[in-house]
Amino acid sequence: MKTLFDETQLSGMKLKNRFVRSATHDGMADALGHVTEKLITHFEELAKGGVGTIITGLTNVTDLEKIVPGQMAIYNDSFIDEYQKLTDTVHQYDSKIILQLVCNGAQNRSRNEGVLWAPSVFDNEPTIAGATEMTKEDIKVMQAAFVNGAVRAKKAGFDGVQLHVAHGYLLSRFLTPYYNRRTDEYGGTIENRARVVVEIVERIVKSVGEEYPVLAKVNCEDFMEQGLTFTECLDLCKMLQKAGLSAVEISGGTALSRAGEGTIRKVTPESEPYFKNYAAELAENLSIPVICVGGIRDINGLEDIVNQTKIEYLSMCRPFIREPELINRWVSGDRTPAKCISCTKCFGVETQCIFNK
Ligand SMILES: Cc1cc2nc3c(=O)[nH]c(=O)nc-3n(C[C@H](O)[C@H](O)[C@H](O)COP(=O)(O)O)c2cc1C
Repeated sequence: MKTLFDETQLSGMKLKNRFVRSATHDGMADALGHVTEKLITHFEELAKGGVGTIITGLTNVTDLEKIVPGQMAIYNDSFIDEYQKLTDTVHQYDSKIILQLVCNGAQNRSRNEGVLWAPSVFDNEPTIAGATEMTKEDIKVMQAAFVNGAVRAKKAGFDGVQLHVAHGYLLSRFLTPYYNRRTDEYGGTIENRARVVVEIVERIVKSVGEEYPVLAKVNCEDFMEQGLTFTECLDLCKMLQKAGLSAVEISGGTALSRAGEGTIRKVTPESEPYFKNYAAELAENLSIPVICVGGIRDINGLEDIVNQTKIEYLSMCRPFIREPELINRWVSGDRTPAKCISCTKCFGVETQCIFNK
């Protein structure tokens, strides 16, 4: 019988419980992506609140793309010492911290300088207006930036890294037939569309060692015309597993998903975690741990998920924005559901719950 507070091992990392703070853009880095005191205090609050593993907000691996103000970054070695301060702070509370690595690609609509990379560029597509179709040389530069980001993360004391391969950011767009119309070895079949990510995972594992946790957040489906399908997601996960991935977090959706089928959905007291069935089926077919995200609010029922399926970890984003201390509250015996009402008004330059203002 598994419990939510089992100590588990993920590659070389020991976790004190099965709860994960899913990657959340907190908007507290400075204009160039550097660490601020506010960001450190924010992560300290989360770690104090009892969550076993914290995944940071999306962190840009290159400054060739314009840095979105507030978004974290790790594009050169000057970040190592400042992140060490952040990871040391989190480790005081026996929590683990994983850095989420990203290239925004054409998802970054605030661009007014820098590159705006896309797998393909085609007519009449507003979401890639102004983007450049990546050459193979660009792909190499981008892949090296991910590898360098992971190496820096390890030096800075992060317990692992997570590749952002979901939600329509650059790596996710390579997987989506609608966005990826390439005719070279990076387009076409799912093997070709996944190649860019598989190569990054292989190179990161080679650089940081097999014990160092390398995770990915992927879409179970894009929920759009010409989107990544669930069958293709399973193929992708198997390829990443073979390449040395340590665990996969199952999300879904892009900005073009059908109404109600996006990444961040309305949650009601009756609704189930909305990607649970996808995560459960993937967990049946993979040997690496699966993390389920999306709509988890009620601790009652979570034990059933980890016992009745092979899902190992449970990840939340919005609930921790309202209640960074949520896990300690549940541990203390107050097992009422997360207070988050899923209004999603937490988005802003700085991420904040309207009830905490
Ligand atoms: C304010 C906000 C910021 C987010 N930032 C990120 C991010 O940086 N990286 C990421 O992979 N997902 C991000 N997400 C998506 C969440 O990690 C999560 O997948 C989604 O909100 C569903 O989980 P929930 O129902 O627990 O909120 C963000 C969501 C919100 C609401």
